[in-house]
Amino acid sequence: MSMWKSENGQNDAPKRKKVTIPVLNQKKLNGEPITMITGYDYPMAVIEEEVGIDIILVGDSLGMTVYGYDSTLPVTMDVMAIHSKAVRKAAPKAFVIGDMPYMSYQISVEQAVTNAGRLMQECGVDGVKLEGGVEMADKIKAITKAGIPAMGHLGLTPQSVSQLGGFKAQGRDAGNALKLIEDAKILEECGAFAILMEAIPSEIGKIITERANIPIISIGAGPHCDGQVLVVHDILGFFPGHKAKFVKQYAQIHEVIREALTEYKKDVEEGKFPSEEHDYPIDEDVLAEINAALEKKQ
Ligand code: KIV
Repeated sequence: MSMWKSENGQNDAPKRKKVTIPVLNQKKLNGEPITMITGYDYPMAVIEEEVGIDIILVGDSLGMTVYGYDSTLPVTMDVMAIHSKAVRKAAPKAFVIGDMPYMSYQISVEQAVTNAGRLMQECGVDGVKLEGGVEMADKIKAITKAGIPAMGHLGLTPQSVSQLGGFKAQGRDAGNALKLIEDAKILEECGAFAILMEAIPSEIGKIITERANIPIISIGAGPHCDGQVLVVHDILGFFPGHKAKFVKQYAQIHEVIREALTEYKKDVEEGKFPSEEHDYPIDEDVLAEINAALEKKQ
């Protein structure tokens, strides 16, 4: 199998400075947009590292994009650990965030710190992400106190999809918007190093970003946030059909893969693959020796 590695076994990604929390904070201060994307496996994360993405999120959205579930709820810590390790290996310089899956932090502060610690210690991530506002304040505080950078996630929080009544935009009435603004303030006070805001009006994204001293990353929270994140399968067009309003598609990879697979199938069926160029040559004399030996055996 081919792997993108040099002869000495190292990842050959172009050299760049390690992305750290001070680097991200400086970007906010300079008004330089922070780039973030999901990454779930080695080959994709190699390319994300190569193009210099600041933050790679090993999102629990992999439950939907990689495993085909209709929500993120079935994703477990073991699954997150496997994918986080692969991404870390592929992207040494990006700031890699391991998403904390459903029921890995909700039960108690101890559970939250233990599981965040596992992603950090066993998988080598630079930080973790957990969903929720004031309800998660004690967990964010404890995780941060344990030396683990924690990113908050507010607005449309997919792990609460049932409670929210579906994957719907949030913060569209005054009460809900004010709660989001207050939640963002509390998460920052509790030590969150950044907050991801999902599917809210851009005006609310702007208010939160202007009031925060930490980077605010948008997924459908408008252009005024300090950075943008999207799900890599969405921007590449893996799944034709429905896409969220905030998604911009940069490729139709489904079609590219479909065409390649169709061509491969046809080549095999028509005997066009493999051809001579894919053959391992063998010396004529060796072949003759093998045939002679086989004949003798009969
Ligand atoms: O799991 C995920 O991919 C997310 C997205 C909202 C970025 O949290």
